[in-house]
Amino acid sequence: MPLLIGVPKETGAGEKRVATVPEVVEKLIKLGFSVAVESGAGDAANCADDTYRAAGARVVGSAAELWAQSDIVFKVRPPTPQEVASMREGGTLIGFVWPAQNPELMQQLAAKKATVLAIDSLPRQLSRAQKMDALTSMAGVSGYRAVVEAANAFGRFFNGQITAAGKIPPAKVFIAGAGVAGLAAIGTAANLGAIVRANDTRAEVADQVVSLGGEFVKVDYEEEGSGGGGYAKVMSEGFQAAQRAMYAQQAKECDIIITTALIPGKPAPRLITAEMVQSMKPGSVIVDMAAEQGGNCELTVPGEAVVRHGVTIVGYTDLASRLAKQSSTLYSNNLLRLTEELCKTKDGTIDVNFEDQAIRGLTVIKQGEVTWPPPPIQMPAAPPKPKAAVAAPAAKGHGHGAGEPMSSQSLAIVFGVGALLFLLVGLYAPASFLGHFTVFVLACFVGYMVVWNVTPSLHTPLMSVTNAISSIIAIGALVQVAPPLDAAGAANRPNALILGLAVLALVLTAVNMFGGFAVTRRMLAMFRK
Ligand code: NAI
Repeated sequence: MPLLIGVPKETGAGEKRVATVPEVVEKLIKLGFSVAVESGAGDAANCADDTYRAAGARVVGSAAELWAQSDIVFKVRPPTPQEVASMREGGTLIGFVWPAQNPELMQQLAAKKATVLAIDSLPRQLSRAQKMDALTSMAGVSGYRAVVEAANAFGRFFNGQITAAGKIPPAKVFIAGAGVAGLAAIGTAANLGAIVRANDTRAEVADQVVSLGGEFVKVDYEEEGSGGGGYAKVMSEGFQAAQRAMYAQQAKECDIIITTALIPGKPAPRLITAEMVQSMKPGSVIVDMAAEQGGNCELTVPGEAVVRHGVTIVGYTDLASRLAKQSSTLYSNNLLRLTEELCKTKDGTIDVNFEDQAIRGLTVIKQGEVTWPPPPIQMPAAPPKPKAAVAAPAAKGHGHGAGEPMSSQSLAIVFGVGALLFLLVGLYAPASFLGHFTVFVLACFVGYMVVWNVTPSLHTPLMSVTNAISSIIAIGALVQVAPPLDAAGAANRPNALILGLAVLALVLTAVNMFGGFAVTRRMLAMFRK
């Protein structure tokens, strides 16, 4: 019996997003599920009821009815107590839950014997999880929208222009925090023609800032800002003082400041003081994307746009929802990818498989049992550091483990035996054989040396390409099919059996060759970023 996925209308104040758009409904149905949508759920994201019907979903009139019927509920914001009350016992909920911030909600859901997959708890460090990473997709939309909000509140162009009516300087934009949202803001502002500068405590983002058209402004203080897992940490007093001095300077110079700085599990760092706001030119704009977590600017009012000292400070906490169609589409694609992982059998059922680290990480309640926080993620061991050029002290005994270079003594023995064998072959084998044998031995040697120097992680694509190249067999077969002419100009045709085998060899090696190249292309694409 296929499960029913229900998509209720979001009830959060001003929330315009919807957890599933009609294009994704079609794909969920292809996975074997049935889909029901609450009437009006997609209205604010430009997805009318009729488009859901056309995609194959059933449109249900009341929220209570939808919650009660659905085996799986797709949501954006965490559910309200009433919503949980009308949820079916033993049902599944997928959406933002924020288990650390919502202990009561967790208890209520556990009492319902629910299975809850919190998309915010996805282990983002797993590369496999990227396609399901709704935090990243929402941060990207918010970063873009922050620039649009800034442009809306700012009284000038972003790009510099020379017109008959006068010369207009480009706007200067400073971005504090170059995570996902910050980088999206840098790219958007740079595309609009502004001069963009950015700062982050994690020095590794400097290259990304530059590649998006920004300039990375360093704090004049040496301290590593990475707190592990790709996130930031709280910095020392000394660093903060140096950072404040730099931000104060930027506040005087820049027209627009967009702040995105966050530290997981901590209040947002205070980066822009009231004095800095006061020092900005009148008409300047600050968009504080950290407003919900307390704000990066001292004067931010969460959820509102206010004017202080002639500067507009935008503290909206619903930036992604303000671009509802885009964010709903990205979010529903993230949920679709998650559903594909849960339903590998494509028969409209789900398997919450705890062997899968991504699924384990985001499952915060399983059949009423709280499974949050998950155990730490086991990342694959980092590749071993290259051995130092200096020779290691000689190991005891004569044996050598795999990967260790041979000792010069054993190398001499191997070469000696090889040379002796070669001499014997040379003495007794026919001359034509010796030529082929020499090429064969050299090919083995060159092949071995080449493969040995390739990083182990690239061995599979290497094998597939050598597989393709090894199809040199094709040349042998071609020689049989179209043999060289003899002195009299006549072709020396082989008999039918040999010809048949040669044609078969050609067909098989063609599969081998093109298959090898195709596999290599696909594998190498996985390594390209
Ligand atoms: P976030 O929203 O938690 O923080 C935003 C940014 O603020 C971060 O770049 C952080 O370094 C910066 N920040 C914090 N304190 C600051 C301060 N005092 N001054 C200046 N900047 C400060 O982070 P987000 O955007 O969710 O991800 C952060 C980074 O992690 C991104 O570069 C992203 O690519 C990476 N990431 C890594 C993953 C992983 O493999 N673990 C998974 C997903 C993202």
